[in-house]
Amino acid sequence: MNNIILHRVAIHLTWRCTLRCEKCGAYIPEIYAKGLAFDYDYEEIKHSLLTLFEMVDMIEVITLTGGEAILHKNIIDLCKFLLEYQDKFKRIDFQTNGTILFSDSLLNVMAKSDKFTFFIDHYGPDISTKVEQNVELCKEWCVNYMVRKYYGEDAHMNGWIDWSPRKEKISKDAAQKQFMLCANGRLDQRPFVIYGNLLTLCAMPFCRYQIGAQPFEDILTLNLADNQMGIEEKRQRLLEMRDTNFNPGCQYCCGIGVDPNVKRYKAGEQVKRI
Ligand SMILES: C[S@@+](CC[C@H](N)C(=O)[O-])C[C@H]1O[C@@H](n2cnc3c(N)ncnc32)[C@H](O)[C@@H]1O
Ligand code: SF4
Repeated sequence: MNNIILHRVAIHLTWRCTLRCEKCGAYIPEIYAKGLAFDYDYEEIKHSLLTLFEMVDMIEVITLTGGEAILHKNIIDLCKFLLEYQDKFKRIDFQTNGTILFSDSLLNVMAKSDKFTFFIDHYGPDISTKVEQNVELCKEWCVNYMVRKYYGEDAHMNGWIDWSPRKEKISKDAAQKQFMLCANGRLDQRPFVIYGNLLTLCAMPFCRYQIGAQPFEDILTLNLADNQMGIEEKRQRLLEMRDTNFNPGCQYCCGIGVDPNVKRYKAGEQVKRI
């Protein structure tokens, strides 16, 4: 075996969401304004995962995210599919914004493995209105859950940070330094993200590309569905991405975690819907 262990792989299932958070890291309000809110195709996601499972030995954490992952048309089928590959991951973190009541069928599949946990982000009682009910349901169904309270004095992480794209592209040198200081640049913790067929390193470059704030060619990508590439070639590309000291997307980013004293904002503030 190659003994390739990835720390974290997120699956960005959908650009649809029940909320329109002003500082959303996935730029959901802009996505809606541009008419780009869609779900990734389920067959495409499954194929990407099967390819990745063939390439690596273990993924420590798979995160289901978006947008609001529960809205994905095939979310229950996807959880059932993941249950069949439990030897390939240690944990599934299911992120949700506390606005949708968990269905019996979703709870039923989540209860089937101790590796599954709901991360319920609580943006305040007027926004995340289903948190308490969902907590009760999780207890009833013996499903793991964690509530991250993002409001009030003791807000999780003291609130959100501003992930707006940089107004001006910075130099390769400056971006390289920023990447090495960034929370997403830590060598042993590089976060990969799947968008349909594409595997990228760090979520931000692709999110910026979606809203037209950076070019596609400056995103590190691997097309998992590329029939011209064999599995070994794909594995080499993955390792290149994992070990790189330069992510060209950083040239458009302010850096996540570069400054521990960076200004924090109230999480989940809603913008007017268009
Ligand atoms: C883009 S959201 C998608 C999942 C789900 N809709 C939610 O809000 O929980 C993924 C994670 O990023 C966090 N997040 C979003 N925007 C952020 C920001 N500007 N700063 C810090 N965290 C942010 C959310 O709280 C959530 O935990
Ligand atoms: S709930 Fe807010 S943070 Fe989460 S994806 Fe939707 S708009 Fe973004």
